[in-house]
Amino acid sequence: MRLSAFILDNLEPILQEWEDFARSIQPPHRSMDVAELRDHAKEMLEEIAAELDAGQAQPATGERASEIHAVTRLQSGFNIDQLVSEYRALRASVLRLWAQREKTASWFEVEDMSRFNDVLDRALAESVACYSATVRRSEDIFLGVVGHDLRTPLQYLSMGAEFLMRSEKSDPQLIQLGSRMFDSAARMGQILDNLLDFTRSRTGGGIQINPRPADLAGISEQVADEFRFSHPDRTIATEVIGDVAGRWDVPRIGQVYQNLIGNALQHGAKDSGVTVRTSGGADGVEIAVHNHGKAIPESAFAGLFDPLHRYANASTEEADRTHLGLGLYIVREIVHAHGGSVAVRSTAGDGTTFLVRLPNKPAA
Ligand SMILES: Nc1ncnc2c1ncn2[C@@H]1O[C@H](COP(=O)(O)OP(=O)(O)OP(=O)(O)O)[C@@H](O)[C@H]1O
Ligand SMILES: [Mg+2]
Repeated sequence: MRLSAFILDNLEPILQEWEDFARSIQPPHRSMDVAELRDHAKEMLEEIAAELDAGQAQPATGERASEIHAVTRLQSGFNIDQLVSEYRALRASVLRLWAQREKTASWFEVEDMSRFNDVLDRALAESVACYSATVRRSEDIFLGVVGHDLRTPLQYLSMGAEFLMRSEKSDPQLIQLGSRMFDSAARMGQILDNLLDFTRSRTGGGIQINPRPADLAGISEQVADEFRFSHPDRTIATEVIGDVAGRWDVPRIGQVYQNLIGNALQHGAKDSGVTVRTSGGADGVEIAVHNHGKAIPESAFAGLFDPLHRYANASTEEADRTHLGLGLYIVREIVHAHGGSVAVRSTAGDGTTFLVRLPNKPAA
């Protein structure tokens, strides 16, 4: 008897072992019934048998049992290790029962077993991929909702802070408090923007841009002004040289300035200024944002643009943990979407410069 027929003939004992195993690993607070414990195992075994019979991978028509199983296990509170362990147990029980059967001539035994392993690995990989994608989607939705819902209260905070800052009746301490609050609210807004872009780019394959004919001179000044307002004690010098017109997604380029200037203010020396130079030439536009302060070690350059990676500058007084380490990742995504590149130069003597190069005519 071929292994596929053996599986179909022995569905019940295999399913019983599957059920016993699932019961042994079910989440402690749950008491799952037989249907829930066996969830889609029968369909999965039938699919595996059909695939073994066909001798090749069967194209999926709709969702596979392994995928539906992954989602139901997630809903039942199984973690990914438990999901994987179910497949391990299934493999062991099928192969054990198969080995214990009354043997007949079995030239195909090895071939069937190795095919079975392949098919089971395929089902396992599908389950894991589907499990992770579902988790990721729900995380993204969660983050999206949190980000969206935090925006309105944040706007009120920021309006209140601005009122304190600008009120003629306020004493200097209140004005200073207002300015700090305004700064914090602006930073929270920026963190939310980055977080939403990050989740979107993760699911949608990069950040989408919408380039139109535009000039970058205005946008660098506008972003710098926002920072001058929230950081009245810091100097931000802007300079625009040459022709900086081209096809750009201006709000997105604005985000590049925002992240780079924000970084320079946050991570650079607090007692020195920031310079932002935007220069246009025949090949395109270069944006250079410079600050003084402790250098970023060269060993940290590679990971600097990785999402959620935060090069921790241990000796700085960065007790402030309100940043996520997404800013440079988003800068890089936006710049790449425009067909450009981003680089960093950092030495103790010259400080840190982030250099963005944008070609004049970005790819469509
Ligand atoms: N201008 C700079 N000078 C010195 N270090 C910098 C500068 N810009 C970035 N860094 C270092 O690179 C790290 C990554 O920067 P990135 O903007 O990606 O994250 P972040 O600023 O920590 O958080 P956020 O997600 O809020 O931007 C920073 O944590 C900091 O250590
Ligand atoms: Mg940053």
